[in-house]
Amino acid sequence: MHIARRMAAIPPSPTLAITAKAKALAKAGVDVVSFGAGEPDFDTPDFIKQAAKDALDQGVTRYTPVQGTPELRAAAAAYLETYLGLRYHPDEIIFSCGGKHSLYNVFACLLEPGDEVVIPAPYWVSYPVMVQLAGGSTHVISTTADQGFKITPEQLEAAINEKTRAFVLNSPSNPTGAGYSPAEIDSLAAVLRRHPEVVIISDDIYHKLTYDGFEFRSIAACGEDLKQRTLLVNGLSKTYSMTGWRIGFTAGDKAFVGAMTALQSQSTSNIASFAQSAAVVAMTHGDDFLDGWLREFSRRRTYIVEALNAIEGVRCNRPDGAFYVFPDIAGVVGRRFQGRVLDSDLAIADYLLEHANVAVVPGVAFGAPSSMRLSYATSMAQIEKGLTRIRQAFDSLD
Ligand SMILES: Cc1ncc(COP(=O)(O)O)c(C=O)c1O
Repeated sequence: MHIARRMAAIPPSPTLAITAKAKALAKAGVDVVSFGAGEPDFDTPDFIKQAAKDALDQGVTRYTPVQGTPELRAAAAAYLETYLGLRYHPDEIIFSCGGKHSLYNVFACLLEPGDEVVIPAPYWVSYPVMVQLAGGSTHVISTTADQGFKITPEQLEAAINEKTRAFVLNSPSNPTGAGYSPAEIDSLAAVLRRHPEVVIISDDIYHKLTYDGFEFRSIAACGEDLKQRTLLVNGLSKTYSMTGWRIGFTAGDKAFVGAMTALQSQSTSNIASFAQSAAVVAMTHGDDFLDGWLREFSRRRTYIVEALNAIEGVRCNRPDGAFYVFPDIAGVVGRRFQGRVLDSDLAIADYLLEHANVAVVPGVAFGAPSSMRLSYATSMAQIEKGLTRIRQAFDSLD
């Protein structure tokens, strides 16, 4: 069967691949500890599930407007105003099948052949692939653990050129958990004001999953001028533990949302009708259920950061948000196992899976070699077991 040439350069998502590999091993009876999860390990709150069941019973089972029901978009507008201080008209909002689909459609509607998108690394794995599929190319800004995995205004300024169509900002970040403070957001906004033609894609999907009093600011909240050029992407997957429901949304310029609606009307149409009813209830309910989740995430975060830093050759920052840690393992790369040199983070991830039964995602998948991503969206018992195995596995290298 012929496969289109453009697919040759499209790798399957490495994070999903590692999770699948770990699951397959577990199914075969191997006691695997997986740090691969990109989703909270809590169940969707009961009140949200009940809303979906009620909707089904009430016959909410048919097509809806492509961009989501008016009630849903009004609920999203109220949500953005309550939590981010941003006012959007419901017609400036479109729901898609998860934040991933939202971003895919954003790039598809935005990019011309040859356009560049500035993306700070470490980045979420799918951005560059989506950009490529839309005919654009990625201009990566590298960051280090020492700079907290956050770009400086100078780096942003240097990355923008006449080909730059867009800049992607993801705070708190997957994979590093790093979050930009309001002052840091303001300093990036100052650079972007000098380049009014650059569209800002703000992936705020982890905005509520933050710790230690971190103050979240969306770049769209820096002023009406920036809001007008920002495409804000958010969704219910992470905050409400609804990854399987596939509910994401984009807020931004009405004409642009119209283009996304046209694309979606010819490809996937509306997201599931009864999921929309549940999403209205979720977004208007308040976030009291989150306190317990955040306390638990934060407890695990403290443990995992300390345990990683206690391992020779490993250095780990304390993240501000999300549920990932991104340790630097440069001190382990190059060591030997039974005479074989583990010459990359990829080799180390393979070694951990094969010889320690621990699944991590190699940093190279996020544009940051010599590191790895561990998700702490798994139980404390698993985290303790996994960290003990990693320490033993690294200690036994020559
Ligand atoms: C930074 C970031 N953006 C977007 C998404 C997409 O989330 P979903 O499609 O599950 O809503 C994810 C999920 O892993 C993510 O980490």
